[in-house]
Amino acid sequence: MDWLLPPGARRDNFWIYSSATIVGLAGLVKLRQGALNFLYSETHCYQSVRTNQAVYPYVNCFSVSPGGTFSKVFQASADSELAQNADPGYAIPGLWDGHGHLLQYGEFLNSVDVFGTQSMEEVRSRIREYVNDNPKAGSREAWLRGVGWDQMALGQMPTSADLTADATLADLYIMLDRVDVHCIWVSQAVLDLLPHSIPDVDGGEVIREPGMGVFCDNAMDMVIALWPKPDNKKKQQFLQSAMSKLNEVGLVGIHDAGVSPGNLELYKTLARRDDWTVRVYAMIECYERNTFCPKEAHRYVDPDGRLSIQSVKLFADGALGSWGSALIEPYTDRPDTSGSLLVNASELVYVTTAWAAQGFQVNIHAIGDLANRLAVDAITAALRLLCPGQDIRACQSRLRFRIEHSQIIHPDDQARIHSVGIIPSIQPTHATSDMAYAEKRLGGERTRNEAYRMRSLLDVQPILGSDFPVEPPSPFQGIYAAVTRKSPHTGQAPEGFPNGWYTEESLDLDQAIRGFTEGPAYGGFTKGKSGVIRPGAYADWVVLDRPLETMSIEDLRTVSVRETWVGGRMVYKRG
Ligand SMILES: *[C@@H]1O[C@H](CO)[C@@H](O)[C@H](O)[C@H]1NC(C)=O
Ligand SMILES: [Zn+2]
Repeated sequence: MDWLLPPGARRDNFWIYSSATIVGLAGLVKLRQGALNFLYSETHCYQSVRTNQAVYPYVNCFSVSPGGTFSKVFQASADSELAQNADPGYAIPGLWDGHGHLLQYGEFLNSVDVFGTQSMEEVRSRIREYVNDNPKAGSREAWLRGVGWDQMALGQMPTSADLTADATLADLYIMLDRVDVHCIWVSQAVLDLLPHSIPDVDGGEVIREPGMGVFCDNAMDMVIALWPKPDNKKKQQFLQSAMSKLNEVGLVGIHDAGVSPGNLELYKTLARRDDWTVRVYAMIECYERNTFCPKEAHRYVDPDGRLSIQSVKLFADGALGSWGSALIEPYTDRPDTSGSLLVNASELVYVTTAWAAQGFQVNIHAIGDLANRLAVDAITAALRLLCPGQDIRACQSRLRFRIEHSQIIHPDDQARIHSVGIIPSIQPTHATSDMAYAEKRLGGERTRNEAYRMRSLLDVQPILGSDFPVEPPSPFQGIYAAVTRKSPHTGQAPEGFPNGWYTEESLDLDQAIRGFTEGPAYGGFTKGKSGVIRPGAYADWVVLDRPLETMSIEDLRTVSVRETWVGGRMVYKRG
């Protein structure tokens, strides 16, 4: 029977004589494990522990089983040895980001940061600096990558010529993502790889004025196809830098909003390793966007909660900043366009239903009010098809369809979201980054009645996140933005909003914390297992210097985490 034993296991005495003995032994082994758990469970005590539970919202101690779950959550009396020797910190449940991009974040950490640049010269100077430190970057085989430019800050749409303007950069292969990652700006060397006359693309834009160099949404594909993709070794390095940075800001888990089938295979291999320190709920993104590709990627839910693949990502439109989001009425500041859909209504219903019928949760990216309308249509249609004759709300509470971003929603569709219970996945820092120009794009009425809802969506269990690397991943900045509706970078809202931008949609602190704990748990099918400190839940927690509840709200902008623990193991400690 040696072949039954896992590699490395020792062949021990008592196995397999009759099925009756197996049952008896299994019971015995279980008992012994219980005893071992008790013997080896570790107890941690703090000044206070926020549990996120209704019954004991605050305690001061918990125990962790060797399997990495909480085994006991309790209040030790003040004069007990446990309380007297408690750690000076304050523990909260481990935080989750409900929408981010792990590999892209890792790539960002290993590329040129052009966030906040105010001129073409500033972009060039950051690239020069990077090339000084990374002299091999920018070759045909390893393009120089960067993220964070914004044509509004640069004064005009950038072009390849703006990069060539510096002779030392002229020959380099450069590809820089716009701040919202919906456009790329490339150098002349990259442009030279494309055909001489570049065609227009449905669902995308080839920017031709003031010159060539920028490609948006579907038009990015022709460039991406030429880009030499990082190999698995490089990707592994990206994932590692991303995970350590995420642990550092108090994140124990993320919803990865779009992972290709090939990268999912890599995740599966790496998720077993000790350096996989962030739980990942990954959404499948087929190689061909908005398609049904069940042969390319399969359901995979690892019992330890390190990696879960049971959802897909679809895209209804692009982003607001580049006029790419699809609106019902034209843009206020560009009446010639209403943006563009990346998929038509019937196709979206078909793909949504096909995935859901295979047991996958479907998460649709929708920014503009037309895209959100189509997403609600598709989700409603899929629910009717999959649960004929049943209560649609009950069906949705099983399948948990989500709308990623849910940014601009017509009041009629807000009503449908409430009545069906569709989950909105919201990034509070998108609201505060976009508030500088949202009203220009949308006009006053649409901004007031449709845009960046939070409080009014509380009844449908919103998931909060950051969309890293588009925004910094700190959940505390997200909590600050949700509570104050001011920018966590400046502490300000636009002129005319001294107390925060449309604060009638702000959340209170507790609601915001729940958006980074319970929200992702419900929307990721781990309710009761994550975002909460209770027996049986994953032993994930974060230690802070002070309790969030008594902190000045302004201090949330710069909270620094003392420690982060995942599965009972410390994965970050402040130096
Ligand atoms: C919708 O898109 C699909 C796939 O691209 C296409 O086959 C179909 O003809 C389109 N339908 C309409 C009504 O445009
Ligand atoms: Zn995203």
